[in-house]
Amino acid sequence: MCGIIGILGSHEVSPQLVDALRRLEYRGYDSAGVATVDAAGRLDRRRAVGKLVNLSDRLVHQPLPGHIGIGHTRWATHGAATEVNAHPHQSGRVAVVHNGIIENFRDLRTRLEPLGITPQSQTDTETVALWTAHHLDQGLAPLEAARATLALLHGAFSLAFIFEGEHDLMIAARKGSPLAIGHGTGEMFLGSDAVALAPFTDRITYLEDGDHAVLTRAGVTIYDAAEQQTSRPVSRIDTGSAVIDKGGHRHFMAKEIAEQPVVIGDVLGHYVKGDRIVLPEGLDFAKAERVALVGCGTAHLAGHVAKYWFEQLAGLPVDIDVASEFRYREPPLSPDSWFIAISQSGETADTLAALHYARGKVDRTLGLVNVGTSAIARDADVALPTLAGIEVSVASSKAFTCQLTVLAVLALKAAHDRGRIDDAAFARHLGDLRAIPALLSQALALSDECRAQADWLAQARDVLYLGRGALYPVALEGALKLKELSYIHAEGYASGELKHGPIALIDGDVPVVVLAPHDALFDKTISNMQEVMARHGRILLISDAGGIAAAGEGVTASLTLPSGGGVFQPILYAVPMQYLAYHTAVAKGTDVDQPRNLAKSVTVE
Ligand code: F6R
Repeated sequence: MCGIIGILGSHEVSPQLVDALRRLEYRGYDSAGVATVDAAGRLDRRRAVGKLVNLSDRLVHQPLPGHIGIGHTRWATHGAATEVNAHPHQSGRVAVVHNGIIENFRDLRTRLEPLGITPQSQTDTETVALWTAHHLDQGLAPLEAARATLALLHGAFSLAFIFEGEHDLMIAARKGSPLAIGHGTGEMFLGSDAVALAPFTDRITYLEDGDHAVLTRAGVTIYDAAEQQTSRPVSRIDTGSAVIDKGGHRHFMAKEIAEQPVVIGDVLGHYVKGDRIVLPEGLDFAKAERVALVGCGTAHLAGHVAKYWFEQLAGLPVDIDVASEFRYREPPLSPDSWFIAISQSGETADTLAALHYARGKVDRTLGLVNVGTSAIARDADVALPTLAGIEVSVASSKAFTCQLTVLAVLALKAAHDRGRIDDAAFARHLGDLRAIPALLSQALALSDECRAQADWLAQARDVLYLGRGALYPVALEGALKLKELSYIHAEGYASGELKHGPIALIDGDVPVVVLAPHDALFDKTISNMQEVMARHGRILLISDAGGIAAAGEGVTASLTLPSGGGVFQPILYAVPMQYLAYHTAVAKGTDVDQPRNLAKSVTVE
């Protein structure tokens, strides 16, 4: 969480810092700030609570001159979203921006007391500035002062330091949290990700864990954890990926939902050639004994759907877990198993840690990632792109369905590799998958009907979502989406589980969204639906035309999805989940693209 940026430029950097922070705002938007060193060597900063626009406004009234500067957009971890807790943190001759968590900051604060140094903020980061200022006051040069501070820190962090009187010096450090160095011509940059730097340069060096770096306009010198000078490769990134607009939609989320038929067509075009699935060399599931699927939030739910596909189609046992549990559970992993990390950002701290745990213990690690330059893409044995394109809205939509599509491709390949389906069945399932983009286009037409239901949902205090089989995790995703966008309490349950407790919640005020395609489990779900209606619960049934007709009287409302897609139907059911949450949020007037308390890339555990 939190985005950091640093620029050693050739003209005023404040506007560039703010511009780059705009591209990093997905990492947090509780407050923002910039610090610069001006021509007279003066170190100064501006900070503002709330969205970046508040900082821009402040800079109009109180400009901040200087050709070198650092910037920060915050997702609060330690201390509320106040100006005093906003970065950059400055103490004496140093200013610091930080992404991550300094775990021993309480101890570091305590040790400052006898030195007569009192923190102003509640943050962990300020201790970094205070200790570095103290080391400078002891007579250490900036690099030595920063190194002495780094030696004190426990936790995961990326840091950037600038110093009073130093026009041509920035120090950066990385441990756990990502940090990219950008190479310009007579200019140097650093940022939490390459996308932030894309307008400035396409030449990027990723610091490795434990590295720190000294940046001047002439270039960068990198040191490893043992303080030995080292070199890290420079790679070229695709700067085209920096183009971000709403394409005429009111919100990024609306645009991203609408893009799904196209991007899923792209995924299929990438992985399916003619009548064959084409994966990187050596990905043959015949040898895999088990698969561990790990992710967080929506990415975890994509894996949960895929568990049904891998087990039912390929007979391949799947362990599914949230990354934050997996990494500390110390699960035994067989050397014949595969590990698949699923992540839109590719930077999620828990998912990355889970990947690192699995590395060396399993036969193969795969990273399903949307950001090709991310840490998970780089650290997995095989990176499989999910090709959703940039997803700006903090709540995931197209990234989820693209993850599902890549997982569907893998499950189908696994079924074929393992001889669980013959060529005819393979061709039939592949045909079902190929039908998804066109069916999604039809599903998008449900937007208006979802808007009509949103007026009802927006009044609710609690909403339940029910589904069976592979639709159960889609119900969980529907509840997650509604919670995060509209702040309405929502829960997803396996339909059959309702009577084991949650049914106590049902009364006439609780909408129950039921996902029930007209399939082999339909009658069972309809029985569960009847149990709800018998207790005056109000049902919003989502099914296909056959299901809506068969459900009979009593439902409060229904949404009709196209039939088709075979076992891959859950991809279609994601669309009404997205639209119901989206339109409910719009009806309630919440911040759709940047819901409160959230961040797009969760780089702390
Ligand atoms: C929900 C959402 C989050 C993310 C989760 C994992 O809409 O977007 O639950 O899915 O934070 O993020 P990634 O996929 O970047 O690892």
